[in-house]
This record gives sequence, structure tokens and C-alpha cells, in this order.
Amino acid sequence: MNEQVVIVTGGARGIGFGIGTCFARKGARLVVADLDLDAASKAANELKTHGAADAIGVRCDVSVRSEVEAMIERAVAVFGRIDVLVNNAGICPFIEVMDMTPETWQQTLDVNLTGAFHCTQIAARRMIAQGDGGRVVFITSLAENVTGPAQVDYGASKGGLRMAMAGFATALGKHGITCNAVAPGMILTPMTAFHWDKPENAAFLKTRVPVGRIGTPEDIGHACVFLASPEAAYINGVTLRVDGGHQAVCY
Ligand SMILES: NC(=O)c1ccc[n+]([C@@H]2O[C@H](COP(=O)([O-])OP(=O)(O)OC[C@H]3O[C@@H](n4cnc5c(N)ncnc54)[C@H](O)[C@@H]3O)[C@@H](O)[C@H]2O)c1
Repeated sequence: MNEQVVIVTGGARGIGFGIGTCFARKGARLVVADLDLDAASKAANELKTHGAADAIGVRCDVSVRSEVEAMIERAVAVFGRIDVLVNNAGICPFIEVMDMTPETWQQTLDVNLTGAFHCTQIAARRMIAQGDGGRVVFITSLAENVTGPAQVDYGASKGGLRMAMAGFATALGKHGITCNAVAPGMILTPMTAFHWDKPENAAFLKTRVPVGRIGTPEDIGHACVFLASPEAAYINGVTLRVDGGHQAVCY
């Protein structure tokens, strides 16, 4: 039981909850930071049943700087420190670019990219003050490298997030704080459920993944736990693809 203090943004459901579950099994103390306070509090209670030493739900819109400051203050007030930040909160409006409003474009960048900037900068200041290192994991996507007509905003945000991760890695390494990305492939969550509701889509997409299945939120959580472990201390500034081999396929 390591009792790391771990903040997971967007941790109330989907991949964020899977990440929380994997840290809970290691005995972590968890902060579930999400737009939806009720869902975050329920998720925190459930994480205790998975082995979390403790867990709290906190309402936080990562795109609003003052809310991120308040969320980090709360985490420190309750648990005394921060060991790990997982920048997971994200949105994917899935609107064709030629129909997209500037407001939607801006919202995607505000949540997916600027939200991670706020969380990382504020949490890292705390980690630096603690003086014993830390870990930041950014949840990017296949879309950090490949995109499509309805993912122009999303791809731009995730490609930017990959570079923000690398830049923070160069800035924070000297403090013993590593920054890495986990790039999920196709994972079954409320964000993507509309794909999997259609049997023809599910069958098509499964043929694109060499391991032959859709990913689970916990597939992503296991990678985050590894990157947050002492064994990963010399891994800094990289993306770990967790996509069943999807991006390796060239046909
Ligand atoms: N599901 C996939 O196939 C997939 C693939 C690649 C990357 N991702 C990435 O993984 C992350 C999680 O995706 P998911 O599929 O679990 O999505 P989801 O929509 O199922 O869950 C996202 C969670 O984030 C919260 N959230 C949204 N906006 C927020 C904000 N401004 N501040 C705080 N919390 C906010 C939501 O309330 C929700 O609890 C996202 O960054 C997404 O881009 C998902």
C-alpha cells in the first residue's frame, strides 16, 4: 500500500474512473475532480470499496483557473500533499469542422489543452515546494497523431497536449517531476458509446485493432499506475500508446 495522493481530473466516469480504480487497488488516496460533483462523490465512495486508503469528490471545471486553484487547495487541505496528477478531463464534440462554431473550437481547446496547463502548473508548484518529486500523466489520444473531419478541434487539442506534456517534462525534470502521456486507442466509455451502439461500427473498428477487442478504462489505468511508480522514474517526456496496436496498422 503506497498511499500516493493522486488527483484524477474527469475522474467521475469512463477512463478517469478506470484510472482511479487502478490507483485505488494500490491503496492510493484519491481526489476525483470533475464537473459533476454528485458523480465525483459517488465515484470517490466506490473507489474506497476498490481499496483506496481514502477518496474525495471535488467539483472542478479544469478550464476555469480559479476552480483548479480551489481544487488543488482542497486536495492539499485534506491529504497534505500531492504526488500524482492525471490530466484526464476532456471533451470530444465530434462536429464536422465546416459546421463547427468558433465557440465549440474554443471550448475544446479550453478544456482539453488549457485545462491541463492550469492543473499541471498549479499542482507542480505544490510538488516543487514539497521537494521530493512527483508525477504528471496526460491523457492524450490516437488523435495526437491522426485526425479526421469531425476531430479537427479534438486533434488540435490532443496534438497540442502532447507538446505541452513534452514542454512540462523539460521544465520539471530537474525537480524530480516526470511528465508523460498515455494515448488511449478506442476505449468503451460514455464518450464513445454512440459508436459501439451500432453493431456494424463495432465490428469494423475491432478489425482495426490487432488484439481484437475494444479497450477498457482499466487498460489505461494500468499504464498510469506504471508511469506513476518508482520504477518509471527515468521515463520522462514520452507518449505510451495503449491502443491494442491500432496505430501500428498501416492498411
Ligand atoms: N474513450 C475513448 O475512446 C478515448 C480515446 C482516446 C482518448 N480519450 C480521452 O480520455 C479522456 C476521458 O475520456 P472518456 O472517454 O472517459 O470521456 P467521458 O466523457 O466518458 O468522461 C469524461 C469525464 O470528464 C468530465 N469533464 C468533462 N469536462 C470537464 C471539465 N471541463 N472539467 C472537469 N471535468 C470534466 C466529465 O464530467 C466526465 O466525468 C479524455 O481526455 C478523452 O479525450 C478517450
